[in-house]
Amino acid sequence: MRKVIAYERVEKPVLEDLQKKYDVHFFKNIDPKTDPEFLKHLHQAEGIIGLDLPVDHELLENAPNLKIVSNVSVGYNNFDLEQLDKRNIMATNTPGILTDTVADTVFGILIATARRIPELDHFVKDGQWDQNIESKHFGIDVHHKTLGIIGMGRIGQAIAKRAHFGFDMDIVYHSRTRKPEVEETYHATYASLDELLTQSDFVCLITPLTPETEGMIGKREFELMKKSGIFINGSRGKTIVEQDLIDALTNGEIAAAGVDVFEKEPTDPDNPLLKMKNTVTLPHVGSSTHETELKMSELAATNLEKGLNGGKPPNLIDPEVWKQLHKGS
Ligand code: DGY
Repeated sequence: MRKVIAYERVEKPVLEDLQKKYDVHFFKNIDPKTDPEFLKHLHQAEGIIGLDLPVDHELLENAPNLKIVSNVSVGYNNFDLEQLDKRNIMATNTPGILTDTVADTVFGILIATARRIPELDHFVKDGQWDQNIESKHFGIDVHHKTLGIIGMGRIGQAIAKRAHFGFDMDIVYHSRTRKPEVEETYHATYASLDELLTQSDFVCLITPLTPETEGMIGKREFELMKKSGIFINGSRGKTIVEQDLIDALTNGEIAAAGVDVFEKEPTDPDNPLLKMKNTVTLPHVGSSTHETELKMSELAATNLEKGLNGGKPPNLIDPEVWKQLHKGS
């Protein structure tokens, strides 16, 4: 039976199905650089499926039989694509199926932050609601405000749809390429990053993490935002400089922030962002609903099996690798 490594997150029914067909070894909460059992199986593994395993030069040196790495996520910043391409190893992700779920999460954090929902939930549950609320408990409106979306891929567009049709918001966006159809459908205006930051009431970051986007929002960018502005991060923790966000909130450069992602995950319990009243923090659950996680695991398994069995995985990140592998056939 061919060996497959499953790492961190593969939904149970999918894992059980794979176990019927392959010699699957599931690893969780280990250090993949040092765990002897993991390294032993890695040496013979033809496929890897899972979440957030750093697939870099070091790992690949220990995986001489590897044919495919299949992420159970749309993000693939854990892959060193250059190293994978060099070795003609296929890499796949799970785009599309999680779009609406992540957009719901991002919009949820946005409303929760603006209307201070977690904070006021605690206020009620802690028994502090003993008289009529005062202006110090008020939130700010979301509807009819200006939303700046950085990254206008599938998820950015699903956020724009909610903002335009559900909340009558004005949409400003910034992305690598202009999207005329988005501008028309959601009445969105393309802007430079700086224009977006200065104009928006809410700045929502949803761009993938790449060498170009790493640390793209820091001190200078927070300073450009309105003092009443709210920053939402639904991308990856490293697309911002987290310390600069902490400073911007502490110094009143921006009013509040909602984040689903952190520079280091899980984040340290003493991260100042967790102690602030004007932040809403989630443990990277953008796509984590029962329905969507199952669909992501299923799609990742389809990608894995196609690749293992000589077919073309539907979600190849770099289709050139497949062409190279099947050159002349
Ligand atoms: C994704 O799919 O990239 C989500 O952020 C979960 O990791």
